[in-house]
Amino acid sequence: MKKIAEHVAIIMDGNGRWAKKRNMPRSYGHKVGSENVISIVKYADKIGIKYLTLYAFSTENRKRSKKEIDYIMMLLVKFIDEKIDELFSENVKLRILGDISVLPQKTMEKVIYAVNKTEKNNGLILNIALNYGGRDEIVRSIKKIISSGYSADEITEKLISDNLYTKDIPDPDLLIRPGGEKRISNFLIYQSAYSELYFSDVLWPDFDTFEFSRALDEYSRRKRRFGGIDE
Ligand code: FPP
Repeated sequence: MKKIAEHVAIIMDGNGRWAKKRNMPRSYGHKVGSENVISIVKYADKIGIKYLTLYAFSTENRKRSKKEIDYIMMLLVKFIDEKIDELFSENVKLRILGDISVLPQKTMEKVIYAVNKTEKNNGLILNIALNYGGRDEIVRSIKKIISSGYSADEITEKLISDNLYTKDIPDPDLLIRPGGEKRISNFLIYQSAYSELYFSDVLWPDFDTFEFSRALDEYSRRKRRFGGIDE
């Protein structure tokens, strides 16, 4: 049987370039990119992926213009308004990775609503990384550990892991980056230590279920050794 990744993480990159190629504003790329999300989620669910983590907005993306940020925040609200019932009926459980307390009030409230609504679902776990940064996440983990009173001797890899946003979630097996860049951009840097990486030149709005299945096929052929050697 084909090896299926339990946890797949995706950096949804290339929206701006996709729009530019069509002489359209960057916002159009984000709009079409956001429309791509639901089919990728449903496909992941259909083929048995248990956890899907999407990088929607990084801590560094806050350097972008207010106009662009506001637009992405609006798209998130729209996505939840339009798709939450569908996600709910597919038994998807939504989780957020990142600090949403600094997001616009409307986006924050909508996100909390969606998380609460799907809380009892037990199907695919859809993590949306929102105002997320891997380094920031590690710093927060260490702060939590220190404020809980742990001593230096008690610090373990697991303790750090257990204090990340992804606590209870296995590390990603496969990290996919469409959009042509070959870097992980502060995404799940602690958790992706042994993730398989897959890069594609296809820009996110064009990264359809066919491209997704190509990435999953390649993953199924990879040999993972986690630092060990083949049997
Ligand atoms: C990266 O492309 C994309 C983003 C920073 C935003 C991603 C957001 C969405 C797809 C919409 C909302 C998400 C959900 C889950 C509904 P880029 O702008 O960096 O593209 P570029 O590298 O071509 O400039």
